[in-house]
Amino acid sequence: MSPTTLEILCSPQEHAPLKVASEPSHNGEPVQFLVNGEHGLRFPVRKGVPIFIAPEEITGINQRFRGIYDRWAPYYDLLSRVGLYVLGISEIELRRNFVASLEIKPGDRVLATSVGTGSDLPFLPQGCKLYGLDLSPQMLAVCEKKMRKFGVQAELFIGNAEHLPFKAEMFDVVYQMGGINFFSDQERAIREMVRVAKKGSKIVIMDETEKVARMLENIPLINAWFRHQQRPIVPPVALIPPGMEEVESRELYNGKAWYLSFRKPR
Ligand SMILES: C[S@@+](CC[C@H](N)C(=O)[O-])C[C@H]1O[C@@H](n2cnc3c(N)ncnc32)[C@H](O)[C@@H]1O
Repeated sequence: MSPTTLEILCSPQEHAPLKVASEPSHNGEPVQFLVNGEHGLRFPVRKGVPIFIAPEEITGINQRFRGIYDRWAPYYDLLSRVGLYVLGISEIELRRNFVASLEIKPGDRVLATSVGTGSDLPFLPQGCKLYGLDLSPQMLAVCEKKMRKFGVQAELFIGNAEHLPFKAEMFDVVYQMGGINFFSDQERAIREMVRVAKKGSKIVIMDETEKVARMLENIPLINAWFRHQQRPIVPPVALIPPGMEEVESRELYNGKAWYLSFRKPR
């Protein structure tokens, strides 16, 4: 982990600063941690990826979805391509349009709060600094392989989008694609996106609509995501904190996706 990455990190609950520490493991190899002695905090770093959440801390719908995504990670890219094909949506077009809407400028720090297998990463402009967080270690393992394949650089973190391990006002663009419909606490996740965004930053969220969830729950394999859905899908416009500017909510792809964007005031 680079010193500049350490500078933007903090503990996800207390927002306490962190330092790198290491100690020998049982086989003598040094193991890295991020620590805060004052608060007695310790987060392991495996293969350069800090782990900010332990399985026993994951509750509610998040627990169910971490299990689903961990199991299905090796097939996720194929399944999402099939799902989009069935819906008549080109994945390349979808990702290109979405990334263009983020208005990323050279040198921007860009955070994806459920980066998954990193399917957006090859579409993001070169010269920005990418940070991706996800609850599922297996999705991130696929993401790392894809980054090597496409020669993309990004810093990855295992964590919960509802408690981001970043200091306030660190990112120029914060986005979230295709995860929030099934987060345990959508309001908290949006509040966290706002907290870590710099003043004036664009925040963008997109996911499928209820209509699509109903269609996909009938397709074998893909239906794992949509069965037992516990609440109706509505774009979370009402959950945006007061005072945000340029709020825009619309449906895309003939009502198959909802898209929400807004700007943190300067
Ligand atoms: C449908 S996938 C979307 C992945 C990627 N953004 C894409 O466009 O392909 C949803 C992702 O959200 C992640 N996720 C679910 N709940 C989460 C949470 N509370 N915090 C962070 N990530 C979460 C899942 O692990 C999964 O990788």
